[in-house]
Amino acid sequence: MRYRLPPVQCPGVLAGAVVLLLLSAFSGGSSTSSGLPTRKISTRLARTKYGLLRGVILQQQPVEAFLGVPYATAPLGSLRYMPPVTPSMWKTPRLCDTFSPVCPQRAPSIGNRTEALLEFPRGRLVYLEKLLPLLANQSEDCLYMNIYVPQEADFDSASLPTVVYVHGESYEWNSGNPYDGSVLAAHGRLIVITLNFRLGILGE
Ligand SMILES: *[C@@H]1O[C@H](CO)[C@@H](O)[C@H](O)[C@H]1NC(C)=O
Ligand SMILES: *[C@@H]1O[C@H](CO)[C@@H](O)[C@H](O)[C@H]1NC(C)=O
Repeated sequence: MRYRLPPVQCPGVLAGAVVLLLLSAFSGGSSTSSGLPTRKISTRLARTKYGLLRGVILQQQPVEAFLGVPYATAPLGSLRYMPPVTPSMWKTPRLCDTFSPVCPQRAPSIGNRTEALLEFPRGRLVYLEKLLPLLANQSEDCLYMNIYVPQEADFDSASLPTVVYVHGESYEWNSGNPYDGSVLAAHGRLIVITLNFRLGILGE
């Protein structure tokens, strides 16, 4: 992107905790099928090295989001198990209004609550019950990121600090998609990026 991004710094444990608090997973309010609050298509375009992007304006926060932005060529066929390859360029503006599928994974089994409670504390189970439905749409074509930008940012000259949130769960499961960066982007006046990366046996 043409934002002048500062080098990514690994947040310390404390900074990481603050980021986690502000990254509101599963934001409430009226949601669309993709899990995000009501939004409308943006009228402006953001220029990237690979082509133009059109985002969506999130209504609850003054934030423009670019969902499902490819950061690599789909790691399919001969690219399976290989290091990521840069994406190919696109010629017409790319509408980034929906999350990409998540990478193939096997999330914890919570179908039987009684059994699940033997394995997880109740709070963890409640969290998993909200999270796992968001991980249902899986595909090997999953190398996408979501970018949350404060709406007042000028795409051509903005120079904003950027938080890249790398999701947890030990390279086994999960996705960046469920972690809505809009509140952090709006209140912190910074760009928030969440992303998917390959997991488990299909990971690098
Ligand atoms: C899963 O993702 C694909 C690709 O983005 C999309 O076409 C499809 O509608 C999604 N399926 C569901 C059930 O959300
Ligand atoms: C859930 O697991 C418990 C303990 O293993 C078992 O007794 C119960 O029958 C299971 N319930 C269902 C609906 O499968």
